[in-house]
Amino acid sequence: GETMEYETITLRVEAGKVGVVTLNRPKQLNALNDQLMNELGDALKKLDRDDSIGCIVLTGSEKAFAAGADIGAMAKYSFADVYKGDYITRNWEQIRSVRKPVIAAVSGFALGGGCELAMMCDFIIAADNAKFGQPEIKLGVIPGAGGTQRLPRAVGKAKAMDMALTGRMMDATEAERSGLVSRVVPLDKLMEEALGAALSICEFSQIAVMAAKESVNRAFESGLSDGVMFERRLFHGLFATADQKEGMDAFMNKRKAGFTNT
Ligand code: CAA
Repeated sequence: GETMEYETITLRVEAGKVGVVTLNRPKQLNALNDQLMNELGDALKKLDRDDSIGCIVLTGSEKAFAAGADIGAMAKYSFADVYKGDYITRNWEQIRSVRKPVIAAVSGFALGGGCELAMMCDFIIAADNAKFGQPEIKLGVIPGAGGTQRLPRAVGKAKAMDMALTGRMMDATEAERSGLVSRVVPLDKLMEEALGAALSICEFSQIAVMAAKESVNRAFESGLSDGVMFERRLFHGLFATADQKEGMDAFMNKRKAGFTNT
């Protein structure tokens, strides 16, 4: 069932193992204010700590995943305000510390901080009506939650510069072609597709899943030799798990593996 403790998001658990967090400020197109980011961080931390949860899906409404940071809330801030308080994004980094996979299921607008939030997730599944953009330049600022760093890593310099400098939107087809999203599906199939991906991840060893996420993320933090060495250490370490014995034995004996996350 849904928990009532949040005002700007909802949290539910599907099939006893997928945590689904829905951004819920529909009138503001899910503009990301302080309260929402605090509640999101809190919900993600809870799901990450819960052993029964294997994967998390983050989604918005049909019209908007999120139309960015809340412009009304930041319009009057001075440099001193934002610098001293580390606004607007001081409480946005919590999502990066989540060790279980987080899938963004995006329909409608994912703009500014909304696009950045989607990019902080491990991969993005988009509905065919999704629109991505970094329009901050139109507001006299630049992306402030990693957009100038994660977008070029996802789509390369040419498209990232185009997006950041012109503020134009990218539709779902272009986003998939550019590597920003992993799959595009019809709008009415979005949650089915995201939950299907999440449930298939839940079938695997949580330890291997966490190691795979950690190692792919390392690719963006290190040179190739260091990254490959990091991967090798994790790979070798997995031979100490019961799940490696189970997974390989199941394959050899042509049966389905039953992982115990040990
Ligand atoms: N902050 C606050 N309120 C927002 C918002 C935002 N980012 N985006 C939309 N809203 C509000 C609108 O003000 C409007 O409220 P009212 O009904 O009270 O007037 C409501 O949501 C509906 O929006 P629109 O009427 O504008 O809907 P539309 O369909 O005509 O246009 C849109 C949709 C193209 C997404 C348009 O709302 C828009 O351009 N929004 C702003 C997008 C943007 O600039 N985002 C970047 C924010 S800066 C940032 O994110 C910084 C960072 O890097 C962290």
